[in-house]
Amino acid sequence: MDRDSLEPDVDSPPGPRAREAVDYHMSYAATSTYVYPFVYDVERPATGPFCHDVDGNLYLDFTSHVASTPLGYRHPRVTEALEELGVQAPSKIAGQDFYSSTVWPPGDTDTPGPRELMDRLTDVTGEYGLDTVFLSNSGAEAVENAVKVAYAYTGGREAVCFDGAFHGRTLGALSFNRSKGVHRRGYPQVAGVHTASYCSQRRCVDDGCGFFRDGESELERMIGSKDGYIDPEDLAFVIAEPLQGEGGLRVPCDEWAREVERVCDEYDALLVADEIQAGLGRTGEWWGSDHLPWEPDVVAAGKALQVGATVASEELFPSEEARLSSTWGGGDLVASLQGAVTLDVIEEEDLMENASERGRQLREHIEDLDSPVVEDVRGRGLMVGVEFTSREHLKDVVDGCFSDGLLTLSCGRKTLRLLPPLDLREREAELAGSILRDVLASVES
Ligand SMILES: Cc1ncc(COP(=O)(O)O)c(C=O)c1O
Repeated sequence: MDRDSLEPDVDSPPGPRAREAVDYHMSYAATSTYVYPFVYDVERPATGPFCHDVDGNLYLDFTSHVASTPLGYRHPRVTEALEELGVQAPSKIAGQDFYSSTVWPPGDTDTPGPRELMDRLTDVTGEYGLDTVFLSNSGAEAVENAVKVAYAYTGGREAVCFDGAFHGRTLGALSFNRSKGVHRRGYPQVAGVHTASYCSQRRCVDDGCGFFRDGESELERMIGSKDGYIDPEDLAFVIAEPLQGEGGLRVPCDEWAREVERVCDEYDALLVADEIQAGLGRTGEWWGSDHLPWEPDVVAAGKALQVGATVASEELFPSEEARLSSTWGGGDLVASLQGAVTLDVIEEEDLMENASERGRQLREHIEDLDSPVVEDVRGRGLMVGVEFTSREHLKDVVDGCFSDGLLTLSCGRKTLRLLPPLDLREREAELAGSILRDVLASVES
């Protein structure tokens, strides 16, 4: 497959095999889950953002499996490392606090494992002074452990999260979700979690979104003022995404972020940054937090790592044995290898620079279309959101792109989410732009 000349090539998807595969999947899967009609064919050729479905349709994938495959399909470095490792059973061991495993010598290897993954992760969280990692299996578990660390370290019982937030679907993590009611409705919640406004329009101060009023912020009104209902002594942490994904691809302004940091400092609360979607190069920096005037105390990461990771300074983690534990956390050798090589490639191939450039190109292209159904184009790096004037327009655009061979996602109420691989090429961004142009033209008419 020559990546430089490929173009999406689809024939009325989903085809018969995709329909059959989805039916087969759904005959066993929990009924509350759902799958997109795109069915990736693991045996057919794929490269970069291009992949086939089981009917032989060739797609341009601008979802990266919800940001979890930032190097796209079959990056040669990852493929080589997997071949070199040679997969032996067991490829998963009971690995975080039971046994350790490594190829020899530890740290210095072409086939990195969980230990090397932790080593690399602390290199890229070093600027925040975070030097210790707890590996787990998913983003939600990374969040669970981040909040456990924060509750245990501070001894506080109150916490603040933000409207539109998404932190995962396990029972603890979902107590901090404020995006869609369906995630939380009817489930018992962690007590003492309060909601503040996330900066929705990058214009808190100018627009008067309500977060700042009479020289005071909403956080200050909740915690510090005489009418505040959170005892500052009891505030354990504030948890936030540096850029909201699921909640509508919202990009906060500096004033809002600075105030979040200030409040955490003033009341000795920890700032927990959920970097599961925005982290690890996607926004053009290692962390979404790097764009903001704040310094997280705890980082929750996942997706691109192929495992979950909670990163903090050593003093924050509980020292008592077995306070945190997981059988598979840190034990998945194949996943850890892919996560570690992904970090290497992001660095070696300057993919953060590329994400910034390509993201700018994509946003400018969509803005230039000047479509009357587009309300806003926003994002950082290759985390791009296009908000439409209505939910129906969003749905029509997602469906239209799918029919034309471009895979996209939605988020919030009426926003399109584009998360292409970080090594996206100029030609591929143009291809997506021209598909969007055609789809928008037909939606407008
Ligand atoms: C910001 C954020 N936090 C947490 C999660 C949960 O991660 P996982 O689905 O791996 O549990 C996600 C998943 O989309 C996410 O985007």
